[in-house]
Amino acid sequence: MSKQAQLDAIAKKIVDDKVTPELAASATQLVLGDGNPDADVVFIGEAPGKNEDLQGKPFVGVSGKFLNEMLGTIGMERKDIYITNIVKYRPPDNRDPKPDEKKAFLPYLQSQLEVIQPKVVVTLGRHSMNCFLPDLQISKVHGEPKRVKLSLKNNSQDVLEVVILPLYHPAAALYNPLQRQTLIDDFAVIPLVMNKIKK
Ligand code: URA
Repeated sequence: MSKQAQLDAIAKKIVDDKVTPELAASATQLVLGDGNPDADVVFIGEAPGKNEDLQGKPFVGVSGKFLNEMLGTIGMERKDIYITNIVKYRPPDNRDPKPDEKKAFLPYLQSQLEVIQPKVVVTLGRHSMNCFLPDLQISKVHGEPKRVKLSLKNNSQDVLEVVILPLYHPAAALYNPLQRQTLIDDFAVIPLVMNKIKK
């Protein structure tokens, strides 16, 4: 089965398993992920917003445009990455995802990573970072690559070694020039990490 077909099967399983039925009922549709399933880098945001909910794709609204701009600063495009969120349905009024909602989607996020087998996982915002690095504070570790072994749910013997790069969420930097420069500086770490891994 192709990687895309396996990802489609994960989307179907989320619906069949009735994950977070309240969010599913208020959302327009499931937003699993988008981009290149063969990419070496996976970006993980928090949850879909209004535009993502309507279009069924992550990061297509204002934050998404800004993210594309940031990718451009390191010579990358959306086709070079795979992008997803922790929570796959839009929370009402764009509220923060609740702990039980993040927990409910974690096994499916792990399955996505198991299929894609990325070398680098870029987390956007603290919710996403804390899924993998629960004890760290984003203000202290943003832009610092961390090598971790992720245990994959389908086989506890099976681990995926990845570099996690925690970044601020683009929405936080959108209207704040200082944060914007921080995000540009942190994005510049991505090609450095990629080059190091390829050696
Ligand atoms: N913010 C996110 O975290 N994810 C999206 O898909 C859009 C905005």
